[in-house]
Parts: sequence; C-alpha cells; structure tokens
Amino acid sequence: MLPSVYYIVILQAFEYSVHEMMLVYFAVIVLATVQAAEEKCDGVSINGSMYTKEVLKPYLDSPYQFTIDYTTNTLFFSYSTQNKDERFKLAYLDLESKEFNVVPGIKDGFASAVDQATGKVFLGAKGGVYSFNLKTKQANLLQPTNQNIWQMFYKDGLYYSTYPKEEAYFIKDGASNRVEELKEMRAMLIALDENKNMYFSNSSGLFKYNKSIKEILPLGDNVVNGMNSDVNGEIYFTSPNGIFKINDKFNTVERLVTLDNVYAAAIEKDGNILCGTDEGVVRFKKINKCHL
Ligand SMILES: *[C@@H]1O[C@H](CO)[C@@H](O)[C@H](O)[C@H]1NC(C)=O
Ligand SMILES: *[C@@H]1O[C@H](CO)[C@@H](O)[C@H](O)[C@H]1NC(C)=O
Ligand SMILES: *[C@@H]1O[C@H](CO)[C@@H](O)[C@H](O)[C@H]1NC(C)=O
Repeated sequence: MLPSVYYIVILQAFEYSVHEMMLVYFAVIVLATVQAAEEKCDGVSINGSMYTKEVLKPYLDSPYQFTIDYTTNTLFFSYSTQNKDERFKLAYLDLESKEFNVVPGIKDGFASAVDQATGKVFLGAKGGVYSFNLKTKQANLLQPTNQNIWQMFYKDGLYYSTYPKEEAYFIKDGASNRVEELKEMRAMLIALDENKNMYFSNSSGLFKYNKSIKEILPLGDNVVNGMNSDVNGEIYFTSPNGIFKINDKFNTVERLVTLDNVYAAAIEKDGNILCGTDEGVVRFKKINKCHL
C-alpha cells in the first residue's frame, strides 16, 4: 500500500496524459526508495563513509587517554570522579563482552600504554608508573615519580609525560630518564611512528621531531587532548572538536570527523572508532552496505 498522499498525487496526474502520469508514479516510487535508503543510512559520516553509533559505557565523566590492548581486545582509559580525594580513576572495558571494570589499587590513575608485542600493560597515576596484570588484576609500582603521569606511549620502551611540569621521560631497562630530544621543551602528549620519529604536543600545538635531521617541524596549532597509534602504527589524535590522523609522509593533519566535546579516541583492529565524549565511551561502527 502506498501512503494516501501518493494516491492524491497519482489521482491528480489523471488530468494529464498516461505518459505523464507514469512519470509522476515513478517519481513517487523513486522518492520512497530514496527515503528508505536514507533511513538505513542512519548514522554519522566519517571520512566519507557511514558509521553507526553505539554507546559502550554510558554515564562516565570525561573519558580520557584511550589505549587499546590489541592482544586482549581491551580498552584502558581514565575518567573523572566527583570525589575530591580521588579526581581520576583508571578503568578497562572488554571490547567484545563490554564488561567494565575499575582498576583497583591505583589512586588518581590517568594514563595507560601497552607493549603490543608482549601484551604488557602500563598504567600511570599520581605517584608513578605501574605495571598491570589483567588476569590477576594486580598493579605493581615500577617507577615512583614526584609528578603526576599525564600520558604514556610504548615504543621499544615506555615514554611518559608529567604534569604539571610537562616533561617527557623514557623508561628502558628499569631506568627512567628525560627524553633527550625533548629536554628543552614542554611535552604533554607523545607518540612515535614506525620509524621512531617523535610526535608531541604542548600548549603551542602539535610538532614532529624528524630523527634523521634532528629538527622539529610544526604540524598544526591544534589543541591536542589525546594521542595514540592504531594496530598498524598510524598515529591519531583528538582535539575537543574532532578526531584527526597524522599523515607521516606529507607531515599533514587530516580531520576524520567533527564532534563536540571529544576527550579521547582509539581505532579498533577492524577500523571501528572508539571515542570518549559526554555520552561516555562510544563506538562508531562502519556500515559497509551504505554509501551516500
Ligand atoms: C579516508 O578515506 C580515504 C579515501 O577513501 C582513505 O584513503 C583513507 O585511508 C581514509 N582515512 C582513514 C584514516 O580511514
Ligand atoms: C612547544 O614546543 C615547541 C617546539 O619545540 C616550542 O617551540 C614551543 O615553545 C613549546 N611551547 C611551550 C609552551 O613550551
Ligand atoms: C626528515 O627530513 C628530511 C629532510 O627534509 C626529509 O627528507 C625526510 O623525509 C624527513 N623525515 C620524515 C619522517 O619526515
């Protein structure tokens, strides 16, 4: 059955020739088909493809610092509490079962990083850097610090930044030292590409340290609030208004999507996008059938 409004259109068409009537009739069918296709495409457009939105964990305040452990398909992240004695908590989310857990035994946990080769998980908090065993849920202090740990990144060793001084450190073989290349500057978020070129942000923007010529190149004046790499080592970052990818060949920044109040993002193995927003932890899942 066609909706009655279409019958009116068709009846009015009787005034015209049969040929014209058929045109109107087909136009109505085409219109209805387009509407149905648009309904199936309910979602957001990201980098030219359609994605549906699924809230994996609602009611979290400011989910920050996403790290996916690709070896166990687990997302580590932090969120804010209303508790004055402990402003942040670290948590993890099983990306298959969606089971949510808070990391026990670490106060004011904020940062996370994973050695994807071994599945070793590192967590950063007010008092230092911890290792975390997902099976036993046991956290062990690896490196005490007198500053808060702000962000961490693993690449042949553990990089971390501190707050409030915004200094970059590197832990290798049990020793923690300032990152030599970033000794003279502030760094809040750090990531390294497959060739170990370093990307870092501070309040002036986003920069790349070119290892071969030992020079710092500005990539943009973006306000960066989260940065990490996907399973292929490609580097993504967020600013409060969207998700971006760093093109390490052309030294450019590509915006994937514009969104309000983004705190963090991470790319799943299959290309789905996890995002921390005011809704909680959200997954944008690619719809293969639908292309607008
Ligand atoms: C964005 O889309 C272009 C064209 O389809 C593709 O080449 C590129 O890899 C995509 N970028 C990301 C980050 O998915
Ligand atoms: C951020 O780093 C760049 C590159 O080293 C530097 O020029 C700039 O002064 C730094 N900004 C701050 C606020 O330290
Ligand atoms: C580093 O700089 C050199 C000289 O400009 C350039 O040829 C090279 O591609 C750069 N490397 C990266 C990773 O940007």
